[in-house]
Amino acid sequence: MRSLIRDLLAADAPADSIKAAGWVRTRRDSKAFSFLEINDGSCLGNLQIIIDQGTPGSDELPKMTTGASVAIEGKLVASQGGGQKWEVQAGSVRLLGTAPDDFPLQKKGHSPEFLRSIAHLRPRTNLYGAMFRIRSRMSFAVHRFFQERGFHYIHTPIITASDCEGAGEMFRVTTLDPTEGKKQGFDRDFFEKATHLTVSGQLEGETFACALGNIYTFGPTFRAENSNTSRHAAEFWMIEPEMAFCDLTGDMDLAEEMVKYLVAEALEKQDGDLSIFEKFIDKGLRQRLEFVASNPFERLPYTEAVEILKKSGKRFDYPVEHGQNLQSEHERWLTEEHFQRPVTVFDYPKEIKPFYMRLNDDGKTVTAMDLLVPGIGEIVGGSQREERLDVLRANMERHGLSEEEYGWYVDTRKYGSVPHAGFGMGFERLLMFVTGMQNIRDVIPFARTPGHCEF
Ligand code: 4AD
Ligand code: MG
Repeated sequence: MRSLIRDLLAADAPADSIKAAGWVRTRRDSKAFSFLEINDGSCLGNLQIIIDQGTPGSDELPKMTTGASVAIEGKLVASQGGGQKWEVQAGSVRLLGTAPDDFPLQKKGHSPEFLRSIAHLRPRTNLYGAMFRIRSRMSFAVHRFFQERGFHYIHTPIITASDCEGAGEMFRVTTLDPTEGKKQGFDRDFFEKATHLTVSGQLEGETFACALGNIYTFGPTFRAENSNTSRHAAEFWMIEPEMAFCDLTGDMDLAEEMVKYLVAEALEKQDGDLSIFEKFIDKGLRQRLEFVASNPFERLPYTEAVEILKKSGKRFDYPVEHGQNLQSEHERWLTEEHFQRPVTVFDYPKEIKPFYMRLNDDGKTVTAMDLLVPGIGEIVGGSQREERLDVLRANMERHGLSEEEYGWYVDTRKYGSVPHAGFGMGFERLLMFVTGMQNIRDVIPFARTPGHCEF
């Protein structure tokens, strides 16, 4: 069995016989021996191999160029040079696959744009290898966070007949062939009705919260938003907790706790992967994350946020208007410049929010909340849900939702209705925040954005 390079580099004693395998990062030759640096993706660090002339397999050394794959056997010994604790004195080397001269990662320093065009190879770079290991660890931490708190993981559907956000940004799911000239009515379609990829698991999640108490979903969501920004993807992953017997304050508390937990996780448990982001992407990263993990967030109502923005004297591209959505430039000014910490804005005008949010006593605002973080803006959006049957029905009517189609949702209010609340956190936005990466396309393995679905 091969050892992972991660484990070899962390060994506490030399070993007489080890096996390792990986991709060549560099090779240096001298008269009597060669050095190979190999990486197997288990960690950021490379394993250094010393191959004396005449070692079985060393005749293939000229083909062990950057990107080639190799397997080695040998002794793990204390390293002579600086930089690493252990290295391998090879007993044998074996070339598995060559990487001809056109291997695009021979050289370093490619632009993120170019690397996106080779998304199938970019995880072999140090930066993207680290990125996707962090993504894996953070996913696991999300589950741990909820499981430690008694939340149940619910697999809400990906194909859905409902529209949670009502923003008309859904991808249609159909088996009808648009290139076929025949009549295309729903009666001929697979589900015999209009179906779409989900924009959020919330509505289905609510039905489970109203049975199991505290639940969460964590899965892919899809939005046909034609906004080509660095923070929007057509396919992204969302984490959505839903809590029965919970109000807006409890909801905001959980969102803050979760951001802090995940930031602390990134700081503590990434085995050095975070260091590469600190070095090449954002020098202030660690300091910012440490600040976020250990300081309270700001909380204020939408109306106050609008007043502060209006008084700011700052010239925004989009004017600040009470009753309008905050633009990301407004959100970023609040969190980056004014408060200089994460900010939760709550109680938004009902006109700009979806049907399911609970109406406040003022009759004008709903119990919505958005958590904003420096560098990104909105990372979490949530609310307390309207649990009063008559108010919900009135909201649905206002939004043109029929009780015929959403009867199952109305049932949760008809039978044993309870106050409940939840939110959605964009997983990619969280990853951008903890790594300092500026573009959502660089934190998801294969990005889907308008006009782009290459892989
Ligand atoms: O604010 P949103 O639209 O909220 C909902 O979908 C609610 N149903 C969630 C809930 O209460 N259960 O989306 C939630 C989060 C946003 O704050 C953002 O972080 C992320 O999802 N998000 C996107 N991330 C990447 N690309 C997009 N196109 C995104 N749209 C939303
Ligand atoms: Mg939102």
